[in-house]
Amino acid sequence: TSFASHVANQFTSYEKDRQTSSKDALYATSNGVPMPHPYESQRVGDNGPLLLQDFHLVDLLSHFDRERIPERVVHAKGSGAHGFFECTNPIPDLCIADIFSIKGKKCPITTRFSTVGGESGSHDLARDPRGFSVKFRTEEGNWDMVANNTPVFFLRDPAKFPHFIHTQKRDPSTHLTHADDSTMFWDYLCNNPESIHQVMILMGDRGIPDGYRFMHGYSGHTLKLVNKNGDWVYCQMHFKSQQGTKFITQEDSANYSADYSQKDLYEAIQRGEFPKWTVEIQTMTPKQAEEVWEKQKINVFDLTHVWPQDQFPRRKVGEFTLNENAINYFAEIEQVAFNPAHMLPGIEPSSDPVLQSRLFSYPDTHRHRIGANYQQLPANASRTGYKFGNFQRDGQMAFYNQGARPNYLSSIDPIQFRPRSVDLDKTHGHFVGKAVSFLSEIRPEDFNAPRALWQKVFDEPARERFIVNVAGKMAACKEPELLKRQIAIFREVDNDIATRLEKATGVKGYDGISNMRFNGTHNGMTKDSKL
Ligand code: HEM
Repeated sequence: TSFASHVANQFTSYEKDRQTSSKDALYATSNGVPMPHPYESQRVGDNGPLLLQDFHLVDLLSHFDRERIPERVVHAKGSGAHGFFECTNPIPDLCIADIFSIKGKKCPITTRFSTVGGESGSHDLARDPRGFSVKFRTEEGNWDMVANNTPVFFLRDPAKFPHFIHTQKRDPSTHLTHADDSTMFWDYLCNNPESIHQVMILMGDRGIPDGYRFMHGYSGHTLKLVNKNGDWVYCQMHFKSQQGTKFITQEDSANYSADYSQKDLYEAIQRGEFPKWTVEIQTMTPKQAEEVWEKQKINVFDLTHVWPQDQFPRRKVGEFTLNENAINYFAEIEQVAFNPAHMLPGIEPSSDPVLQSRLFSYPDTHRHRIGANYQQLPANASRTGYKFGNFQRDGQMAFYNQGARPNYLSSIDPIQFRPRSVDLDKTHGHFVGKAVSFLSEIRPEDFNAPRALWQKVFDEPARERFIVNVAGKMAACKEPELLKRQIAIFREVDNDIATRLEKATGVKGYDGISNMRFNGTHNGMTKDSKL
């Protein structure tokens, strides 16, 4: 008869709800009143209008009207699964995070893979980077790695992100995507040449991975690991597919269904073929970071650059396995909210400006996409090794509203605190220097890694496929001027690319970029200071 027992009767746990079978469920309106059949509407006489008093019909239609939540503004098409992470090689020398402290330590995970530009129903085999998000449900709270399948990105200035993404979306007037009209795609890229490293990867074989099981994941951003003495190193994180990597060619991609990657992942897990990834880190001391800048012009806060693996070898820390499909896709994958700002004690952001912007952008979009209390949803709730509380209260759908506990820092009924693990002054000591700096400048060193890709990583058949892919995309561009500029950017990578593209497209590109002005990027490769 108590309130508590009333509540416990229906939804005691998400697990109970998940296991509900039709055999045990009685058809009822949302307030629990049984109905003999769903197809009964109240109307006046045999042929008269419907009655507003028919709560059953109003309940049905009004809920249906509200079924959609906003899709993710990027990465809207995706697939996910659950599994677990296991630490195989602890790193207490580098990091105090509990999950990396002991060999054999495990935690449940949820992953979501995605394409970037397309809408929720778009094709899985689009030529696009792939998102690779992992939520580690550790005993110290949730840690999210919101990664991609490429180690670099199109930009190093976060202010460019909405501009770039808009060129991946539908044209405001024609409502066409860049698949049909690639003009805005090339307009952005030929004006922001620091994108070239990612463009080389996108247009190469890695641009269409064969589903989600056969690709690696990369933090891309530099993070920081902090040990118990407060000493820290910079870190890059890699998820290496134990299945290996596979790709699908542009031509062959037309032969697969729009949900190919979803089907492949789901069916593999149902068959008991559980995909696995090895978690590896590269680390660098702050002094080494200064040296790679001085000697090699590699900036660890620049998302268009990678760390050379011969100088900074990968070190294994663990592996994760996906062994459980979602039972309810919407509740467990659509509503899951990955956030790069979800870090653990011992894992911190670096001052990479793109990462810093993402720390704001994700929880902001989650409040919009899912609501103020999105962290209370089963897909996002933490499974800490302790009971936790705070002073957040109320708002829409406050399902877990922290009972009778004071909603302010009370001296009468005080909440408990865990002492700080390391000295704050030490770990945050690197936020120094000018408050505003110029992120958008193209420099000769920006072409080194793309050149190595063309000359050392791609073999001849891969180079030929690359040219076919770029030329195909260029064929849908309405402004030849943009292509002349883009070919000039490719020429800075290697003249061979430019001449092959000129042959394939019939467009003669400019000789190089030294006389070019970009609307997004300062030209650091010219003697003319006005460019
Ligand atoms: C999704 C913003 C760069 C990886 C998203 C979402 C936003 C966003 C608003 C939708 C999130 C949601 O609705 O749950 C940004 C901004 C960026 C940026 C502002 C740069 C300034 C990046 C980079 C990476 C990345 C560099 C990878 C290294 C992802 C992934 C998702 C995502 C994997 C999908 C998450 C999921 O599966 O739910 N991004 N992003 N983003 N972003 Fe970014």
